[in-house]
Amino acid sequence: MPALTCIVGTGYVGMACVIGLAELGHSVHGYDVQLDRIERLRHGLTPYREAGIETLLRKHLAKGSVAFFDTLEAAATDAAIIVVAVGTPSRDDGSADLSAIETAIDALAALEFRRRPTIVIRSTVPPGTCDRFSERIERWGDLVYAPEFLREGSAVPDFLNPDRIVVGASTPGAAVPYVRLFEALQRPVLFTSRVNAELIKCCSNAFLALKISYANEVANLCDALYAGADDVLRGIGYDRRIGGDFLNPGIGFGGPCFEKDVKSIHHVAGQFQTGRELFSATLNVNASQPIRVVDVLEAELGDLAGREIGVWGLAFKSGTDDIRDSLAFRILDDLGRRGARVLAFDPAVPVAPLQNHCRLVPSALDAASADALLVLTEWPMFAQIDPHEYAPLVRQGLVIDGRNVLDAHRVINAGLRYRGVGRRTEPIGESVAATPLAAAY
Ligand SMILES: NC(=O)c1ccc[n+]([C@@H]2O[C@H](COP(=O)([O-])OP(=O)(O)OC[C@H]3O[C@@H](n4cnc5c(N)ncnc54)[C@H](O)[C@@H]3O)[C@@H](O)[C@H]2O)c1
Repeated sequence: MPALTCIVGTGYVGMACVIGLAELGHSVHGYDVQLDRIERLRHGLTPYREAGIETLLRKHLAKGSVAFFDTLEAAATDAAIIVVAVGTPSRDDGSADLSAIETAIDALAALEFRRRPTIVIRSTVPPGTCDRFSERIERWGDLVYAPEFLREGSAVPDFLNPDRIVVGASTPGAAVPYVRLFEALQRPVLFTSRVNAELIKCCSNAFLALKISYANEVANLCDALYAGADDVLRGIGYDRRIGGDFLNPGIGFGGPCFEKDVKSIHHVAGQFQTGRELFSATLNVNASQPIRVVDVLEAELGDLAGREIGVWGLAFKSGTDDIRDSLAFRILDDLGRRGARVLAFDPAVPVAPLQNHCRLVPSALDAASADALLVLTEWPMFAQIDPHEYAPLVRQGLVIDGRNVLDAHRVINAGLRYRGVGRRTEPIGESVAATPLAAAY
C-alpha cells in the first residue's frame, strides 16, 4: 500500500507536491494555516494560477487521492512522510526568515504519530539549518532535506520531470522512504548530507541569478556599442559548456526565490567571511537594471513629471500570477518618484496593491493609451498584438521593451520608436553610421 504523505503549506511548492505525488499514485493530505485556502482547495480551487493544476486537483479530489484538512493533527498523524513547504522570505539583513518552518516543526512535535514519520524539509533554507533543527525532531522522527527546483508556470510538469532528485540525510536509510515516492520517475538521485543538499539548492539559484545578471551586463555593453545582445547571447549560449537558458536580458530577476536566495547565501558567506563578491555583484547588477529602464525612458521622453506611462506586465514572469518581489513594482515606484502616472495591465493579475499614481486597466490597449509604453513581463500575448493597433494610441510614439519580447522591426514599421535591452542597433534620431562604434574604428 502506498505511503500516506502529508504536505504542510499549500502554496506554489506545496500544491505541486500534492498534485505531483497524487499523479505518481500516492495518497496525499494537505494542510495550511490559511484556512480559507483549505476551504477553496476542497472545492477544487487553487489559490494561484498554474496551467492545468485545477483540472488535476479536481481529478484527484474526485478519486479521493488528495484531501485537505484544517488541523495539522487530522492531516499528519497517520502520515509516514511529512513534507514541509512553507515560505522562507528574506529579513531586512538578507538572512532567511525561518519562523514559518520553526512554527510548523513545533506544531508537528506536539502531535502523537501512529508511526515514526520522515520529516522532509522542502522549503529553501540556508546551509546548516536542518542540522540545527535535527535535535528538535530526531527524538520522534527522521529529518531529511529535499530541495525543490520547480519553476512557477510549469510547477507540476517540473515536479514530475526533475533533472535530479537531491536528498540530504544523516544516513542513506533515513532518506529511503522519501526517495521511494519518486521510484516511478527513474530520475538520477543524489544522496548526500543535509548541509550539502541545502548548498546545492541555494547555490543553484545563485548561479541562475548570476547568469541573468551576466546577460544583463553583456546587454548593457551591447547598448553602449550599438550591438545586438540577442545574437551575442545566443552565440554564447550555443556553447554547450555554457548553455542558453537564463541568458535572456531584461529588467532583471524578480519573484519570490532568486533575490531572497542570493541574499541568503550572501549573508551566510558574510558570516563565514568568505567569497561574497560574485553574490554581491549579482545583486548589484540586478538592483540597477530596473532603474536603467526608467533612465532610458527619461532620456527619450525628457522629464517624466506629469507624464502618463503604460505598463504591460506586473507578474514577475509570464505563466504565473505571482507578483511577489516582481521588479515591475520597483519600476512603478520609481516612475511615481519621478512624477509619472501609470496605467498598468497584466493578463493574469486582475487586482494588485498599487500606489495612488498607478491604475490597473482591463486591456493591453487601455494601458497603451499613454505617452509611452513599457513592457515589464514577457507574456507572449504582448508580441501577438499587431503594433499597428497600439501605434496610434501611444502619444509620444515610444515603446521600451524591458523583456525583449516584442518584434522590434514590427514595432518600428508601425511608426513607433523602440528600445529593448541590448537591442540598440538603430539609434533613435541618428543614423547607424554615426554610432560611437563606427566612429571608434
Ligand atoms: N515558488 C517557487 O517557485 C519555489 C521553487 C522552489 C523552492 N521554493 C521554496 O519553497 C518554499 C515555499 O515557497 P512557495 O512559493 O510555495 O511559498 P508560498 O508562500 O506560496 O506558500 C507557503 C504556504 O505555507 C503556508 N504556511 C506558512 N506557515 C505555515 C505553517 N506553520 N503550517 C502550515 N502552513 C503554513 C502559507 O499559508 C502558504 O500557503 C520557500 O522556501 C521557497 O523559497 C519556491
